[in-house]
Formats: sequence, structure tokens, C-alpha cells
Amino acid sequence: MTTYNESIHYDKRMYLADILGSKVYATSLHQRNIITAHELSELHRGLDLVHAEWANDTFAISPGVDEDIHTANERRLGELIGKGIAGKLHTGRSRNDQVATDTRIWLRDTLDEIESALVDLLRAHLGRAEADLDAIMPGYTHLQRAQPIRWSHWLMSHTYYFTDDLTRLRQLRIRVNRCPLGSGALAGNPFAVDRAFLATELGFDSVIGNSLVGVADRDFVAETMMWGSLFMSHVSRWAEDLILYSTQEFGFVKLADAYSTGSSLMPQKKNPDSLELLRGKSGRVFGQMVGFMYTLKALPSTYNKDLQEDKEPLFDTTRTLLDSTRIATGVLSTLSINREKMLAALTMDMLATDLADYLVRKGVPFRETHHISGAAVSLAENEGLSGIDKLGLDKLRTLSPKFDEDVMQVFNFEHSVEMRSAVGGTARESVLRQIGEVKALLRD
Ligand code: ARG
Repeated sequence: MTTYNESIHYDKRMYLADILGSKVYATSLHQRNIITAHELSELHRGLDLVHAEWANDTFAISPGVDEDIHTANERRLGELIGKGIAGKLHTGRSRNDQVATDTRIWLRDTLDEIESALVDLLRAHLGRAEADLDAIMPGYTHLQRAQPIRWSHWLMSHTYYFTDDLTRLRQLRIRVNRCPLGSGALAGNPFAVDRAFLATELGFDSVIGNSLVGVADRDFVAETMMWGSLFMSHVSRWAEDLILYSTQEFGFVKLADAYSTGSSLMPQKKNPDSLELLRGKSGRVFGQMVGFMYTLKALPSTYNKDLQEDKEPLFDTTRTLLDSTRIATGVLSTLSINREKMLAALTMDMLATDLADYLVRKGVPFRETHHISGAAVSLAENEGLSGIDKLGLDKLRTLSPKFDEDVMQVFNFEHSVEMRSAVGGTARESVLRQIGEVKALLRD
């Protein structure tokens, strides 16, 4: 039971949050004359010593005694400054408000690391989108070649998802960063500690206004996992595209050696392991989110030990999110693109819509032009021509008298992308507008 019950081997990573919380709590006890100035300074001195032991890796966990980080720190504090004073620290406090406080502090700081990694990922996209603006490749629907798009347009599409992830993360942080300290075991603090002071000193944005919520709420853990799941679904789709683009058959991109591996058997192989892991780890994050929802569901009010089950999935999920974001940035900023391969994958039939649009500009209704353009594709095929651009004006005129000399400018991929200059399109000007929009958000 002792082993089954203990959480020290994983919650020890919250040692700093635990010590900060204790120091501020001790100050609040002194403000209410529960402890003297001398006792307060002894508690602070002792807590700093405990902190130093964790920081220089000399803290000796007492097996079978130290159940969790909270009891371990208090045990050690008593050994260092004497149990008489150390025993006053926990006055009016419970591990229930303590653990909720520590987890929120730890998570808030971790989310800040993830946020900065996510900003780096967005910047890597913006940098590439600007640098590679001239590259044109096929855009796909149903994985079938559809219309030409700029590679930068594809890059920017992913920044729109990641930008929403960033906005959601910033909103989520507000709900994580609320202070439960001073909730006691469940009913509140009987020594009138100044909860606004506790919150401010610990860097929280607000105080949780109900003590039962203070000790029992783990929505902030669930929401982090939900956030992570949606984010990883975006990462997995991004990775899947790049895996495809890096195959010999596509050859649009080539991963740097640092982010690929060879095969133990086939000497010629270069495998996109980084991208496959990014795709694969999304499953792990979804699973942890769903698992924790099962833990939360139908729990009775306030603290139940089930809640200790929040930490391992939370720690693993946030680790995975941080690592994955950094790896994705590394992959993108070091891969090389092959403009020739992208161009070679473009085929004239991908301009069939442009041909129809040409006739629309000559006054023909779109439904008709769609039919005529389709007929042009079939005709070129039946005549054994390499594409609709080889039909020539005479043959095109047999399909519609509206075709003129200027139709030849339609058979150009650059022309095709430049036509799509409305907001959100793939024209140079439109992609630059997208880059500007995301840059503005990063400046906020
Ligand atoms: N290790 C516990 C957790 O993570 C701390 C709170 C324990 N509280 C209690 N009443 N047993 O949830």
C-alpha cells in the first residue's frame, strides 16, 4: 500500500512550486500573528535550505516515509530547523489546497515554455514562407492533384491552425493561473489568511472564489490535455503532409540528416522518423486526455485520492508537447525544398479550371465553361497530346468560338496562382498578407 500510495517519484518535480507556496503561506501566517517574526525567518531559512538540496541534487528521499513532495519537504524542514517551528507551517493549510496550488504553479510555468516553443514554430513557418515564396507545387484534394498553389501558401495554412493554438493556449493559461491556496482541506481557512496576498505573491492572476472548487477542480489539467490533443492533431496532419512530400515519388522536400535515420538493413533508406514520431505521439496525447476524463467523471465533491492520478499524464503530456513543438521547429527549419520536383509534379490538366475561368471572363456562364474545359481535357487526351496547352487555338475554337489568342497565357502555373489574389488565396500578394496577419499576432 505504501508504494501504491506514494507519488514522490513523480511529483518531486514540483519541489520549487511547493517551496514557494510554503514561504508565502508562512508570511501570511505571520501577518495574522499565528507565528512570530523569528519563526517566520526560521521557516524561510529552512525552506531555502530544502530548496538548495533539491537544486543541487542532494535531497535524500526517505523511502516509505516521504509519500509525496509536500510531506517530504515538511519532513526535511523539521530535520533542518527543528520540528517545533516546522510543525507550525501547516496551520490552516491542507495538502489539498497545497497540491492544487503547486500543480497550477508548475503547469503555468510549463505552459509558458510551451508557448515560447510554439512562437518559435510559428516564426520558423513565417521565415520559410517568406524565403520560399517563389516555389509552386500541386495543391491536393482527396490526395489527387487539384490546382497549383504556392508552397508558402501550404506553410501558411498550418500557421493558421498553430496561431489558433497559440490564442487558445493564452486563454487556457488564465484559467490555470488561479490561486487555490487558503482553501484549507475543503471548507476554507480559519485564520483569515489574506488570499489576495497569497495569490499576488505567487504570481497568480486571481483567487478561486470557492474553497470546495479550490481543492477539487482539475478542469485546468483536463483543459490542458484537450488543448494538447487539438494541437497534436494539427502537428500530425502537418507531419503527414511532409512525410508524403518527402517520399521519392513526391520529392518536394528533403529532411536534414539530423531529423532522419537510416535503415539497419537497407543501405539506401532515409526515413522520416522525426515526422513519424510527431504523428504517432498525437495518439499518446489523445489517450492521456481521454484517460484523465474517465478519472474525473462522477467523482464526488472535493478532494478524493483519485485526483493524484492527474499528475503522471499531465507531466507526460506536457513533456511530449514541448519536445514535439521543438522537434517540429527543427524539422521545418532544416529541411530543403526541391522546386524542380514541385514544378515537375504540376500538369496542364490542373489548369482546366483556369481555362473555364477564362471563358467566364468572356461572358460564358460557368456551368457551360466547366463543360467546355472538360471537353478540352478529353480532346487533348484523345489526340494523344501532352496537355490542353498543345491543342492550339483552332481546336479550342471547335469547342467554343469565344477562345482567342490571349488564351495561351492561361497555360502558365505562375499565372494561375497569381489569379487567386482575393484574401486567403495563393497569389504572392495574398500570401504576403497572410504572413503579415500572423506576424501581427505574434507582436501582441
Ligand atoms: N499527493 C497528493 C495528490 O497528488 C496530495 C494530496 C493528498 N491529500 C490527501 N488528503 N491525501 O493529490
